[in-house]
Amino acid sequence: MPRFSRPIGVAIIGTRFGNLHAEAISEMPDRARVVAICSATEEHARQSAAKWGAEIGTTSFDEALCHPGVDTVHICTPHHLHAPMALAAARAGKHILTEKPIAATLEDADRMIEAAQAADVRLMVSLNQRFLLHHQRAKLLVESGVCGDIFLCHATFLGFSPIKGWRFDAAQVGGGALIDSGMHRIDLLRWIAGDVVRVQAASGRYVHQAMQGEDTALVLLHFASGAVGHIACSWGVRTPVREEALMLAGTQGTIWTDNRDMSVRHTNDQTIEQETFPEVSYPDSVKNLIRHFVDCVQTGTPPRVTAEDGREALRIAQAAYTSIRIGNPVTLERSSA
Ligand SMILES: NC(=O)c1ccc[n+]([C@@H]2O[C@H](COP(=O)([O-])OP(=O)(O)OC[C@H]3O[C@@H](n4cnc5c(N)ncnc54)[C@H](OP(=O)(O)O)[C@@H]3O)[C@@H](O)[C@H]2O)c1
Repeated sequence: MPRFSRPIGVAIIGTRFGNLHAEAISEMPDRARVVAICSATEEHARQSAAKWGAEIGTTSFDEALCHPGVDTVHICTPHHLHAPMALAAARAGKHILTEKPIAATLEDADRMIEAAQAADVRLMVSLNQRFLLHHQRAKLLVESGVCGDIFLCHATFLGFSPIKGWRFDAAQVGGGALIDSGMHRIDLLRWIAGDVVRVQAASGRYVHQAMQGEDTALVLLHFASGAVGHIACSWGVRTPVREEALMLAGTQGTIWTDNRDMSVRHTNDQTIEQETFPEVSYPDSVKNLIRHFVDCVQTGTPPRVTAEDGREALRIAQAAYTSIRIGNPVTLERSSA
C-alpha cells in the first residue's frame, strides 16, 4: 500500500452528514484537502464545494471519483449506495471511508471487503462512537476487571427522530431504526462485551406509519462469554432529550455510560465514581475518526475500526431481522473479525 508524503485528496459523497466529513478534512490542510464534492442535488454539490474549497461540485459520482488528485472517497449517502460506490472506488484504486452501516446487506458488505482487499486499498467504517472518550473509558474499566465478569448489558437509543426521504424505504435503509441508529449500539456492545453468538428480536412500526421498516426494535443478545444483553432502539419515543446509554453489569460492579453528558459511572456497591468527558463532543468523535483514517491512509497502518467490525455489527443487525421474520432466535457462526 503506497504511503503519502503530500496532503491526500478527498472526495466527499453526500452533503448532509457528509458536510461534517468535509469540515473535518478542511481542519487539517497540511494532511488532507477536499478535492471533490458529489451530491444528488446540483445546488447542494455546488454550495458545498464552494464552502469547503473543493475543485469540483458535481452530481456525477464517476466525475468526483475520477477527478485528478482524489486519493480517498468518503461515502455519506443512503445505505444501499454504500456498496456500489465503494466497489467503484476500490476498482479506481481509492481508499474508502464509508458511513455506517457498512452496507444495506451482508452480501454487499462481503463484496466491498473483497474488492478493497483485491485493490489493496483501505476500507474503514465510520463507527465513530468508539471515539467518544466515555465509551473508551468504559471499555478500559471492563478490561481492567474492576467490575469482575460482565454478565448483563443493555444499550438504548430512545428518542423521536423525524423521518425523511430514503429512510421511509426499507430497501434503501436495509431495514429501519435498528440498522441505522441502532448500529452504533450493536457495535459498542460487541466492542466492549465481545462477540455475539445468538440473537432474538422483536420490532414494530408504532409512530412513523409511512416507514416500511421498523421504528422500534428490541434485541436480545447472547455473548460468546456467556453474558446476556439487550438493545432497545426507537425513533418514536417522545422525550426532550434522546437517551443513548449503556449499562454493563459485572460480578463485582456496574458501569453506566450516557451520551447526554458524556459520562461514565461505575460502582462496586460502596461507592459510585463518575467521570465526564465533555471535551470530545459528538461531532468531534466523527472528526477524530476521520483524522485516524487519514493517518492510516498516509502511514499504511491498519485502522482501529476495521471493515470486518462493520460487517460483524451488520451481521448482528441482519440476524435480528431474520429472528423477527421467523419468530425464533438465530445462532451466529463464530466470526473471524
Ligand atoms: N455516524 C453517525 O453518527 C451518523 C449520523 C447521521 C448519518 N450517518 C450516516 O450518514 C449517511 C448519510 O446519512 P444522512 O443522515 O446524511 O442522510 P441524508 O440527510 O438523507 O443525506 C443523504 C445525502 O446523500 C446524498 N445522495 C443521495 N443519493 C446520492 C447519489 N446518488 N449520489 C450522490 N449523493 C447522493 C444526498 O444528496 P442531496 O442532499 O443533494 O439530495 C444527501 O446529501 C448514512 O449512511 C447514515 O447512516 C451517520
